[in-house]
Order: sequence, then C-alpha cells, then structure tokens
Amino acid sequence: MEVVTTPAAMQEQAIALRAAGQKIGLVPTMGWFHEGHLSLMRKAMEEADRVIVTLFVNPMQFAVGEDLDKYPHDLDRDCALAEKEGVDILYAPAAKDMYGTDFKTVIHVGGLSSGLCGADRPGHFDGVTTVVAKLFHQTLPHLAVFGEKDFQQLAVIRQMVTDLDFPIEIIGHPIVREKSGLAMSSRNSYLQHDEMAAALSLSQGIEYAKDISASGAVASVEHIKEGIRKIILKHPQCAIDYVEIVDALTLKPSVVFSQNSVLLLAVKINQRVRLIDNTLLGYSEK
Ligand code: PAJ
Repeated sequence: MEVVTTPAAMQEQAIALRAAGQKIGLVPTMGWFHEGHLSLMRKAMEEADRVIVTLFVNPMQFAVGEDLDKYPHDLDRDCALAEKEGVDILYAPAAKDMYGTDFKTVIHVGGLSSGLCGADRPGHFDGVTTVVAKLFHQTLPHLAVFGEKDFQQLAVIRQMVTDLDFPIEIIGHPIVREKSGLAMSSRNSYLQHDEMAAALSLSQGIEYAKDISASGAVASVEHIKEGIRKIILKHPQCAIDYVEIVDALTLKPSVVFSQNSVLLLAVKINQRVRLIDNTLLGYSEK
C-alpha cells in the first residue's frame, strides 16, 4: 500500500490510474479505523479495481469548542489496518496542503443540511461537502462508499453529486455495530466505562422502535419518539439533541409512518461525547 500526502501527488496518481483504465473506488474517512470503516473498504474493493482511502481530520467541519484537537489519530495503526484489507493507496494530506492560506470556497447544500445535525452543528455539512468535493477532485473516483451511520451526511453528499454533476456513483453501506448494539464510531473511544450504559440507550431506542414496527402494532410517530426519549433519559448522563422520524429522501419530519420512514437519533453523553444512530423503520400506518 502506498501512502500519498499531497493533493498534487494524489491527483497525478489518480490521472495515471484512469489512463491505465483502472476503476477507482474511494472511501473518505477521518481515520481511527474500526470495523465500520473496514467494511466500506471491503465494499469498495468488491466494486473497483483500485481503492483509495482518504484519512483527513477536516478542520472545516468542526466548530470552535468541538473535538478537532482531541480527535483520535494514529497514522501507523490506520496504515496497518488499511494495508491488511488490501487498500491500494492511503491518502493522508496535511491541513495546510488541503486548504493553503487563502481558501475562500464553500459548498452549501440547501435544505437537507440545515436540520437535524445541521441545526445542532451549524456549518458542519458545509465543511463536509467542501472537503468531499475536494477529495473527489484529488482522487477522481468512479465510485465512493459512505456509511449509512451518517445518514444525513450521505443524503447531503448524494444531493451535491447530483446538483454538481460529479460523474461518481455514491454507494451507501449498512451500519456496523458492536455485539452490544452500539454503532461503531471513532468517537466511542471517548466513552468511559461508566458511560457505556448511557451510550447503549441509543441502540436500545432503535430496537424498541423496530420491535413495535415488526409487531405490526399501531403506534403513532409521536408515541414511538416519546418511548425512545424515555429509554434515553432514564440515564441522567444523556441529553437528547434530537429524536426524529423523517422521510429518508427529504429528511422532513414524518407525521405518519411510511415505508420510507427513518428514525434518527443524536445524544450527548455527559455534554462531552456526541453519538448518532439511525434505522430505517419501513413501517406502514395501518
Ligand atoms: P468518519 O466519521 O471517519 O467516517 C468515515 C465513513 O465511515 C463515513 O462514510 C461514515 O458514515 C462511515 N462509518 C462510520 N461509522 C460507521 C459504522 N459504524 N458503520 C458503517 N459505516 C460507518 O464521515 C466522516 O468521517 C467525514 O465526515 C468525511 C465524510 C470523511 C468528510 O470529512
């Protein structure tokens, strides 16, 4: 596996790969790999001839006071994991090379990026779409794999790709969970032992909603949201950013269930660790 560190060198390699007729698959990440990231790499390897994984902790998507400075980072560890998966190129640029000293462009996806995580983290998705567009130009992929774990992010990126005519297939990949049910996340490394039960309340809320929808019981959107809030708020360490049931395509709140209803959760543990989770409910109102 080759490690590339500058945008110019990356783009040059991508152009050469394309000229050689290779199909390029991209997996953008911020590193501290876990099974979730590795599953995206495997999917990209299935779909493409050459896989590029990017590792860049993007300052533009963190607000002041968020965890940019303490985001877990270990290039050697991540290189070893990516290499073991058979990744061809790990692209890990420095922030100064990505943004220079005079960067002025922002890509903003209207509508989809303003609610949910966008409401709690203003400007976050502008940082995501701007860096993902840059990564697309630097790595020139035919396809890119993103996790459904970041459901809103995936929807925002799909919209950007459509609106800006990127000739890139966007592939969504399912959430990978710990045995406990906890959705894997680099941020789980912030959790202390006595915060695990609180962290598990997100996946417990999801199970509760899935059980009701699988049982075919008639329940209203409000009833399910209220049940989930109770499960989460049983833990005094939890503060809810949102518990929402929305349409999977528009991300607008569902008033009644449809086959496209998705449950999205964001919870802060001890005002320190922000966790998100989601599930498609695929539930029809009787
Ligand atoms: P990061 O949080 O490192 O996630 C990289 C990719 O891994 C994203 O597509 C995310 O949805 C996926 N992922 C994370 N946890 C997962 C899990 N448990 N199961 C499946 N996939 C999972 O998302 C970002 O980085 C950044 O915003 C980025 C897109 C790289 C732009 O900076």
